[in-house]
Parts: sequence; C-alpha cells; structure tokens
Amino acid sequence: MEELVVGIIGGTGPQGRGLGVRLAAAGQRILLGSRDAERAAEVASDVAARATTASAGAEVSVQGGSNADVAGAADLVIIAVPFDGHAATVAELAAPLAGKIVVDCVVPMGFDELGAYVLDVPEGSVAQQAATLLPDSHVVGAFHHLSARLLEDLSKPTIDGDVMVVGDDRTSMDTVQALAGRLPGMRGVYAGRLRNARQVEALTVNLVSVNRRYKVHAGIRVTDV
Ligand SMILES: NC(=O)c1ccc[n+]([C@@H]2O[C@H](COP(=O)([O-])OP(=O)(O)OC[C@H]3O[C@@H](n4cnc5c(N)ncnc54)[C@H](OP(=O)(O)O)[C@@H]3O)[C@@H](O)[C@H]2O)c1
Repeated sequence: MEELVVGIIGGTGPQGRGLGVRLAAAGQRILLGSRDAERAAEVASDVAARATTASAGAEVSVQGGSNADVAGAADLVIIAVPFDGHAATVAELAAPLAGKIVVDCVVPMGFDELGAYVLDVPEGSVAQQAATLLPDSHVVGAFHHLSARLLEDLSKPTIDGDVMVVGDDRTSMDTVQALAGRLPGMRGVYAGRLRNARQVEALTVNLVSVNRRYKVHAGIRVTDV
C-alpha cells in the first residue's frame, strides 16, 4: 500500500482535500487533480503542509496537476467531482484510467424546500455510470459516508466510522478496503457488488438529513464485523 500513488480527480474540493490530507498524513503518496493545474498545485502545497503537521514523522508527498495528468500518473484514482460534472469528467479520462482502480465517491444528491433527496441515475448508480464509461477500469464505490469537514479537521486524530466498499473485482476491492483502513479509526467493509452501489450512495442523503437536524457530521459504523 505504501507504494501506491493515489490520484484524486476534483482534488481541490473539500472531499478531495480531506481524503488527500488524511491519506498523505498516513504516508500515502497523493496527486490532487483539477481542471486548472495551477489551482491544483496551490491546493496541494497547502494540503502537504497540513498533512506534515499531522503525519507523526511519515514522509508526506502531495502534488497537484491537471485531472488528465493525475489520471495518467496515479496507480489508483478517486473521483471526487460534483454529480453534474461526473459523466463528462470520467468519459474524458477513459484512456488514462484504463487498467486502473477507479474509486467513485460521488453522491447523486439534490436539495429542495424539503431538504436533501436522491437524484435518479439512468445506469442505476453513479458508480455504475462510471463503470459504463470506463469499461477498461476496475470501478469501486467507496468513501460516500465520510464528512469532508471531519476529514479536514486534523485536530481530531481519528474518525469514528466505516467505509462501505462496493464493486465487482475482488483484488480491487481488497486494495480499496486496505486504503480505507489507512484513514485513522476507520475500516473498509465489503458491502456487495457494484449493482448495490445505489443504496450506499443514497444512504448519504439520509446522513445529510441527520447532519442538518442534529448539527453533526454523522457517519456509519457496521457492527459485528
Ligand atoms: N463534501 C462532502 O462532505 C462529501 C462527502 C461524501 C461524498 N462527497 C462527494 O464527493 C464529491 C466532491 O465533493 P466536494 O464537496 O468536494 O465537491 P465540490 O467542492 O463541489 O467539487 C470538487 C471539485 O470538483 C471540481 N469541479 C467542480 N465542478 C465541476 C464540473 N462540473 N466538472 C468537473 N469538475 C468539477 C472543482 O475542482 P476544479 O475547479 O479545481 O477542477 C471542485 O473543487 C461530490 O460528488 C460529493 O457528492 C462529498
């Protein structure tokens, strides 16, 4: 795992920065991607500085680049763009992502006067949409139930929660579960095939409703595992 270079597409946003800073502090090599390579470099430098303070001596490596360069250079790539930019972003990166593990954490969520709700995805889920657009990649769904606020709050050394991991390729699932386990306090838990991604993505919407009602950053803990 130490040698695995993790790229994050949309890595300048809260979720990408949060996953990046926690994984970098744990010693994972991180590449943050953006539509603007200069923005990525600025954010990477800030994330590296914060990860270093929390790293307890682990070597920190965070660099920025264009989404295409990051997709090409990383061993494993996390997609962390908003749902409305998901299909176009993923489709553009099909060539550099071929043969790689692609981890999708995108939630199809809308808001109206009643609060958060789940958007329909024609393919069944966002992860299945990615799998359709990336036939030569190993698509895995994970990291949906993690609050970016908690990830970025390094004053709390651990996060109380599990990462539900869905996918169809056993080796890729094992890798992503191990990666999730590098987030302090967390475990990666097998949660079924990719066809079950819809429920995992949608559950995030319930968590957002919990957060709004109780003013918290709720996560999921799977018991008896
Ligand atoms: N925030 C959370 O707590 C959380 C928790 C679980 C899952 N997620 C999921 O993680 C994903 C990222 O969340 P976020 O809060 O970090 O989102 P965000 O800030 O809205 O977007 C992340 C990054 O994506 C890029 N981006 C924005 N619009 C885009 C478009 N139309 N096409 C391509 N790239 C675009 C931007 O980077 P550049 O402008 O630099 O390219 C932006 O910094 C979302 O799908 C969300 O559902 C978020």
